[in-house]
Amino acid sequence: MPRWTQDDIPWEAFEPGRLSQDLLALAKAAALTEYNAAQYTRTLRKVFSGDDAFARLVGDWQVEEEQHGAVLGRYGAMADPSFDFERSFRLFRDGYVLPGGGDQSVRGSRAGELLARCVVETGTSSFYTAMGEATGEPVLKAICHRIAGDEYRHYRMFLEALRRYQPREGLSLPARIRVVVGRIRETDDDELAFAYHCANESDRPYDRDRCNRLYSVSAYGLYRYHHARKVVGMTFKAAGLNPQSRLSEWTSRWAWRKMGRRASVPLSG
Ligand SMILES: [Fe+2]
Ligand SMILES: [Fe+2]
Repeated sequence: MPRWTQDDIPWEAFEPGRLSQDLLALAKAAALTEYNAAQYTRTLRKVFSGDDAFARLVGDWQVEEEQHGAVLGRYGAMADPSFDFERSFRLFRDGYVLPGGGDQSVRGSRAGELLARCVVETGTSSFYTAMGEATGEPVLKAICHRIAGDEYRHYRMFLEALRRYQPREGLSLPARIRVVVGRIRETDDDELAFAYHCANESDRPYDRDRCNRLYSVSAYGLYRYHHARKVVGMTFKAAGLNPQSRLSEWTSRWAWRKMGRRASVPLSG
């Protein structure tokens, strides 16, 4: 069961004058990817068939992710009455196919799948933390605070499962690094760009590069160095590397520069 509900959000405190259009566009896109959690649950249940305890955790996880989508969708419709959440979601769900079709793990092992999930939850937890810190709009801030807390718990949940499977499967360090790098690269795949399109400009033809750039500039523009440090620390920990090491610090600086470049990609052309 989710640890909070829509009734815990102070909807009446909404201050439209303090909401930037960039953040609204991101929140609407995030509503669609979050609400689509059932697709991932189906894959996880197949990959982890026989692990009933984990299947139960995944069921709870799906409910929380769908609640994130519903809350962000309600927020999007409140801030932009032309936003039809259900219609946008249908467009997204019908048009987006998981890498590999969703019938099997594309990571090659259960440990690899769990490590990839840790990378995703690291990304979402940092994204909502950064968005909550960036916005002055009180309702969005409250929503981001609640969701970021859930995402961090999800990270812990997948990390605990990873620590059960890793001793059995013994995923090598190069293999773990391949999973992490592979999953980070997928951030540029269709999912976020297509969600941005469905949520914000479904009246025009889908232009993946354009939507990817619009999404990246707004999203990476939210990040500060301490977010990059946290992202790298959580990822290192999941990969079995020391988050306090010099390599971790060096990687954080590298990641921070890369985020800065992604936040300033020109939008024309
Ligand atoms: Fe979520
Ligand atoms: Fe999550």
